[in-house]
Amino acid sequence: MPDATRCNFLQQTSIAGATLLLPVLAAAQDKQGTDKKDAVKAKGDASISPAEDLMREHGVLNRILLIYDEHLRLLAAKKTFDGSVLASAADIVKHFVEEYHEKLEEDFLFPRFRKAGKHAKLVDTLQAQHKAGRETTAKIRELSGVATLKYVSTDSEKLADALREFLRMYRPHEAREDTVLFPAFRSIVSGHEYDALGDDFEKKEDELFGDEGFFKIVDQVGELEKKLGIYELAQFTPK
Ligand SMILES: [Fe+2]
Ligand SMILES: [Fe+2]
Repeated sequence: MPDATRCNFLQQTSIAGATLLLPVLAAAQDKQGTDKKDAVKAKGDASISPAEDLMREHGVLNRILLIYDEHLRLLAAKKTFDGSVLASAADIVKHFVEEYHEKLEEDFLFPRFRKAGKHAKLVDTLQAQHKAGRETTAKIRELSGVATLKYVSTDSEKLADALREFLRMYRPHEAREDTVLFPAFRSIVSGHEYDALGDDFEKKEDELFGDEGFFKIVDQVGELEKKLGIYELAQFTPK
């Protein structure tokens, strides 16, 4: 492949793209014009259970996985793209999935399962996967994030490998949590503790990401999908 073509991967990063590298979560604090919408959302959010809370966070993760899928498709087609979209997606994984969602699992769920002597092996595997995921996210962030970096084919291959590695692990990881761990959680804590944990999770989320922070993160992911052209759901309906 000619050098000029090789250097094309991801190099279409620009000053405009670089602005996207600004912390996604700073924008998540932005309250612009959302107060009314938030008030409506808050109503429906009043009594969310820990399992529902964690599962809708998996919904965010799933939408990030779709963003990763799309980048893999672009890499395979040797198409250029703005690396800052991928960097922002990896930032959301780091701050929302790894430092918040997985921390909830590690602090509030895993110790209770261990204490109850239930799903101990599964919990060990899930915890080891969190650690591995953080390493893969750091790789994805590094390979996608430097706006002025000129990508050659080896970097593109490394990035594709890291994206595949992340997708390969997280789809079964979250599916197992949704179908085995979370349903079992209700049976190892009292009703009172279960309800209190739901409230604690919500409070923590709002502390970290602002009032009704979950919906702000969802909006952030939606913006990235729009930039990639995968936001409109109807485009995926078979014709
Ligand atoms: Fe997990
Ligand atoms: Fe999870």
